[in-house]
Amino acid sequence: MKTFELNNNQTIPAIGFGVFLIPNDGPTYEATLKALKAGYRHIDTAVAYMNESDVGKAVKDSGVAREDVFLTSKLWLQDYGYENAKRGIENSLKNLGVDYIDLYLLHQPYGDLVYSWKALEEAVEEGKIKSIGISNQTIHIFKKFIENCHIKPVVNQVECNPLFQQKELRKVMDEYGIRLEAWYPLGHGSKELLENEYLISLAQKYHKNVGQVILRWHYQEGIISLPKSTNDERIKGNIDIFDFELSEEEMANIRAMDTGKGTHDPEDPANEKRLMGLKIHD
Ligand code: A2P
Repeated sequence: MKTFELNNNQTIPAIGFGVFLIPNDGPTYEATLKALKAGYRHIDTAVAYMNESDVGKAVKDSGVAREDVFLTSKLWLQDYGYENAKRGIENSLKNLGVDYIDLYLLHQPYGDLVYSWKALEEAVEEGKIKSIGISNQTIHIFKKFIENCHIKPVVNQVECNPLFQQKELRKVMDEYGIRLEAWYPLGHGSKELLENEYLISLAQKYHKNVGQVILRWHYQEGIISLPKSTNDERIKGNIDIFDFELSEEEMANIRAMDTGKGTHDPEDPANEKRLMGLKIHD
């Protein structure tokens, strides 16, 4: 598995296995185990996915050494604020059954970001978390957020795929040395993306499927992608993208597919209200 370097000199596997919407108590365990057997060394979960414990169990049972797996989790809004965040971090460590987490993110950009971040920074100093990052931050939100950071985020995990390339945000993240991580890297299975004729032609040319072409595009753009699949063949296939290379012209053609529109606008007050009200635990 190829890796990217982060701004704190840690490395991160370029592709992570995403477990959003896979249920706990079995399905996430099975899928994570399959992914680790297939060669993934990076798993992306979150408190809000409610499946940290299955991820932790699968890592333990996989036979892969803990230090060889890059584990990401994310603090939920309900646990924001200094004291709550400290408790939230302890709960994630407990649920994952580990004594450190490789990367921990502020999942949503609302509420008490300043003191939640402070708790994450302290957890880095205590060795409980190796790297910290943000998620769903637009340029506008980020510019305010960064003013109060002592430790710079290593990543910003946002929606990104060839139809929604986050070009302006990526420019700003580049200036700060913050790497983009893509959620819904395959457009969440959208037909508009997966049945795009140009991408199909590239898939035929390279004897790959469209998903693999898209994931290769992410990789060549320097974006960490987190494809989700529960299908054996696709789980395996989604990391089998390192034996071909898109030409500069092909990369440019895919860059030209950007519509600038995604499925989620973090600055929409209705989204903020809905997410702030989402209770994940007692
Ligand atoms: P499945 O679980 O049946 O493989 P995203 O990661 O952007 O959220 O996309 C996930 C969706 O895309 C899931 O519906 C998943 O279905 C599907 N998917 C995953 N990998 C591929 C692939 N290589 N080609 C086509 N569809 C894929």
